[in-house]
Amino acid sequence: MTRSAPRTFAVKSFGCQMNVYDGERMAELMRAQGLSPADAADADLVVLNTCHIREKATEKVYSDIGRLRKKGDPMIAVAGCVAQAEGEEIVRRARVDVVVGPQAYHNLPRLVADAAAGKAALDTGMPLDSKFGALPARRAVAPSAFLTVQEGCDKFCTYCVVPYTRGAEISRPLAAIVDEAKALVDAGAREITLLGQNVNAWTDEEGRGLDHLIGLLDRIEGLARIRYTTSHPNDMTQSLIDAHAHVEKLMPFLHLPVQSGSDRVLKAMNRSHDRDSYLRILDRVRAARPDIALSGDFIVGFPGETDAEFEETLSLVDQVAYAQAFSFKYSPRPGTPAAAMDGQVEPHVMDERLQRLQAALNRDQAAFNAASVGRPCQLLVERAGKLPGQMLGKSPWLQSVHLDSDAAIGDLIAVEIVQAGPNSLGGIERVQAAA
Ligand code: SAH
Ligand code: SF4
Ligand code: F3S
Repeated sequence: MTRSAPRTFAVKSFGCQMNVYDGERMAELMRAQGLSPADAADADLVVLNTCHIREKATEKVYSDIGRLRKKGDPMIAVAGCVAQAEGEEIVRRARVDVVVGPQAYHNLPRLVADAAAGKAALDTGMPLDSKFGALPARRAVAPSAFLTVQEGCDKFCTYCVVPYTRGAEISRPLAAIVDEAKALVDAGAREITLLGQNVNAWTDEEGRGLDHLIGLLDRIEGLARIRYTTSHPNDMTQSLIDAHAHVEKLMPFLHLPVQSGSDRVLKAMNRSHDRDSYLRILDRVRAARPDIALSGDFIVGFPGETDAEFEETLSLVDQVAYAQAFSFKYSPRPGTPAAAMDGQVEPHVMDERLQRLQAALNRDQAAFNAASVGRPCQLLVERAGKLPGQMLGKSPWLQSVHLDSDAAIGDLIAVEIVQAGPNSLGGIERVQAAA
């Protein structure tokens, strides 16, 4: 069946920041094709940029497709990690027009044209030549922008689908990254977050690591802040840790997932670090940057996890005192080794463990936020708040701060934190002393 070519589009991204980045680039690509952005509810083309990490995330795609089909008859493109993992299975399970994997989305214009001509439109290739070169240049962006520098994962944690959906670890070339960073700053970015599934595994053609890249970005005029995420403990080099002491633009924040506090569980997860080596990394990070805000990821209920092993995760949390963290119930994923392991944990046990873990993490987050009261810091103003005259921004420690201010979006202003809630802080603008 042929159909008319879409004139409007919407991109809905789920999952991690890398998907957010990919979603922005797909939107830029569609704009460059002459399509106009619209709400998902009435766009001619809806791109669902999907996540496969846990079962819930995957199921969400199918309910979204069902909802879109009930409302009208848009062209539906499934992109992202579910597209990569399930490929033709999606076309069998649901009526969609295009399936495109995370390494192939630069081909979206051709796939959309094929679908409009009534042809099968599926591309889950992982070509060696990079998609990045085939994408249009960056134009208008928010003050805080994402920049993917590394993709894929070779770590093969036994619970995780990412090595299968994103492929092997590859680093984008240094020059292309620096060019894109400059383009982002020219387009309005004041802060850049370097992204990768294992961002600190990034190396350039000569084997220099992420600290070298950060050093080059530090010299870009107009760029005020640099962040990076997500890091793997095994790739946390001393030179990257040292960058936190020397590079002023590098923000005092580190997201370093640990997953569990039990050595037996970490081994079964194939994490290749243990509790102690992880804690020693954090000691070195804190020595380099004493005020660093630490963040992590946790999985409760990995197959075989005992009560005592879960207690070890709680004791690790007590020891670290994270500024914020993400925690998940283990979700068996098709094709991963852990899904076939003995000792799958009962749902009610997982629920109880997650609740206890989250209570501990919330306690530490509230304490970190409370300790910020009275702290002078810089705020990057990112958007207007809900109340008149209110603006929202981020502290160096990645906390959301609201305040009354006539500052513009993209301004960096001096503030003092005056009030702390569990999820956001209140600030007041500090009057700068006259020079
Ligand atoms: N590359 C990063 C993060 C990848 S996915 C890292 O290695 O840490 C983000 C988080 O999702 C993981 O850190 C993990 O906590 C969680 N996750 C991954 N697979 C999962 C699964 N099968 N069930 C539950 N949580 C999972
Ligand atoms: Fe998944 Fe582990 Fe790779 Fe992170 S390091 S993406 S958790 S396999
Ligand atoms: Fe999800 Fe893929 Fe990111 S599975 S977490 S969107 S890498």
